[in-house]
Amino acid sequence: MSQDTTGSPAPAAATSAGHDQAPHVEALENLLHEDRKFAPSQEFAANAVATAADYTEAAADRPAFWARQARELLTWDKDFTDALDWSNPPFAKWFVGGEINAAYNALDRHVENGLGDRVAIYFEGEPGDTRSYTYAQLTEEVKKAANAFEALGVAKGDRVAVYLPMIPEAVITILACARIGAVHSVVFGGFSADALRSRIDDAEAKLVVTADGTYRRGKPSPLKPAVDEALSKEGHTVENVVVVKRNGEAVNWVEGRDLWWDDTVEAASAEHTAVGHDSEHPLFILYTSGTTGKPKGILHTTGGYLTQGAYTHKAVFDLHPETDVYWCTADVGWITGHSYVAYAPLINGATQLMYEGTPDSPHQGRWWELIEKYKVSILYTAPTAIRTFMKWGREIPAKYDLSSIRVLGSVGEPINPEAWMWYREVIGGNGGAKENPAPIVDTWWQTETGAQMIAPLPGVTATKPGSAQVPLPGIAVDVVDDAGASVPNGEGGYLVIREPWPAMLRGIWGDPERFKDTYWSRFEAMYFAGDGAKKDEDGDVWLLGRVDDVMNVSGHRLSTTEIESALVSHPSVAEAAVVGAADETTGQAVVAFVILRGDAVNKGEETVLELRNHVGKEIGPIAKPKQLLIVPELPKTRSGKIVRRLLKDIAEGRESGDASTLADPSTMVQIAESLRK
Ligand code: WTA
Repeated sequence: MSQDTTGSPAPAAATSAGHDQAPHVEALENLLHEDRKFAPSQEFAANAVATAADYTEAAADRPAFWARQARELLTWDKDFTDALDWSNPPFAKWFVGGEINAAYNALDRHVENGLGDRVAIYFEGEPGDTRSYTYAQLTEEVKKAANAFEALGVAKGDRVAVYLPMIPEAVITILACARIGAVHSVVFGGFSADALRSRIDDAEAKLVVTADGTYRRGKPSPLKPAVDEALSKEGHTVENVVVVKRNGEAVNWVEGRDLWWDDTVEAASAEHTAVGHDSEHPLFILYTSGTTGKPKGILHTTGGYLTQGAYTHKAVFDLHPETDVYWCTADVGWITGHSYVAYAPLINGATQLMYEGTPDSPHQGRWWELIEKYKVSILYTAPTAIRTFMKWGREIPAKYDLSSIRVLGSVGEPINPEAWMWYREVIGGNGGAKENPAPIVDTWWQTETGAQMIAPLPGVTATKPGSAQVPLPGIAVDVVDDAGASVPNGEGGYLVIREPWPAMLRGIWGDPERFKDTYWSRFEAMYFAGDGAKKDEDGDVWLLGRVDDVMNVSGHRLSTTEIESALVSHPSVAEAAVVGAADETTGQAVVAFVILRGDAVNKGEETVLELRNHVGKEIGPIAKPKQLLIVPELPKTRSGKIVRRLLKDIAEGRESGDASTLADPSTMVQIAESLRK
């Protein structure tokens, strides 16, 4: 039997008696009873890149395991002396004394090894224009950009702000910075001028690389005006702005400051020798939001980051670079686009697809059309996208040949079992046509962790819908209670990392105290991830959402994720978001926002009652939303994260706050209108 559904017993309800120190016990008693398991097919397991031996090797000697990966997956200009220096925690040094060039590893060495003609990037623009770059061509472009940036006075250690759409120049810019040792700070194109300016100021960037704009849903969408606005006030550190011509729209021009990419990069020499940088040389800063208003500049360095990125990309996606076509749909403005678009795939010599636009332009089958066209074999995307496709209906992907797909990845938020099963059958199973649907790897990690931390190995692990399952080889993850003690199977608590890992953040740019306070002070000698988690009876890890999203209702802890998952399991529900609203009596109350499926009939109060009862049935009466609102849309960022803060404003009866970072800023108005009716 190549695919079995071994009926593991459903996790028994965790008993609260005797374990009252566990923080989530009440909510977890009823957590996601999942008894489906999908073992890898024999064929998949037999050809898998990563085997169970990786776990044993890493368990025997963690730093030695990573040292072997570092030496096998990367080419060092100077070998390192020690794998890890943890003498001054929480400040880690990996691959001490080693020297390495990230761009050389992503590019030149493949050309030297005879792979110059392999396609590195297939690019598909939203309007349908295409380009492709072989490794030889991409190497040349990066060398030119490196020369151009150096000619503009950018030196090793200087910071470069990157404000670009999903076009190959984004990857070229990132790698050119890495090549010369400049530290890139990519700012997602969906951020406002103010957000861009504060990031430029915090990093004291010398150069900005941007584009006239991009395309969104068939229309030109500008970027350069935000740069102009960001730099309109004096007192910044930017000397030049390099502008890629992408959509050809007219732009404002500041003589002496602004330069066209074509006049600088394209005109530069294609000869450039990469030199090794220290393994701990800063590679990039990426800003991410924290619990306070000011975004944190997460700092990553070179050797460790590249090692873990390359290993996980190979092992978790079962990468066979000679034959696979890999597609990660994340924007380069996010960590996923850094680690799993700009760096790891190229380090591993993979062929990847890069797509500029939205999934519904010019039609809702665009992604599946691209998969058919490029024969994509590994797809890495987010649950929010999957749920959107579910909402649009399975008949859309059914029109395309998805038989090339071998591995499916998920990242960014917990994937509810219904979405997982849909992803497996409709996408991984080519609409049910495949005897062995592609394995799904649900990957848990963060901007801070730099690379994947918890995920199945697709040739080893029997996967379980909804659980990210097991720490990767060489990663020490645990779930602990309030006091920092490891919880037994069947119980929940806080996700922590007990040992340093190669791709870990090295700090918050310019703020070492905040680094210690945020991540290392909650528990003694452990990294606090900020996520709630549960170990099921098999010891598999289930992510329950941010602990900041965990609600406390009448002293019972409830996870937003869990209630959302219950709602989405109802046949009438397409999407759901849950927030904890302040409540005088119960501390917090559960408020749910629900989008109904296209074919569901909204029967008003009757539907609301039915859905509340459904949650009551799935989880328990305590979890029933006090208020359940049927809405046409949910407020989401362009990376697909639901902005709960805005929903909380509605739930708590406030005027809703700043909606400028939403993918569609009119969403809040649409919701408000629908609720007035
Ligand atoms: C959440 C994205 C459940 C989690 C790579 C984490 C996930 C935050 C998963 C980091 C997953 C990410 N299952 N939750 N597979 N992956 N998360 O920094 O709450 O944008 O703390 O990094 O996303 O988000 P970030």
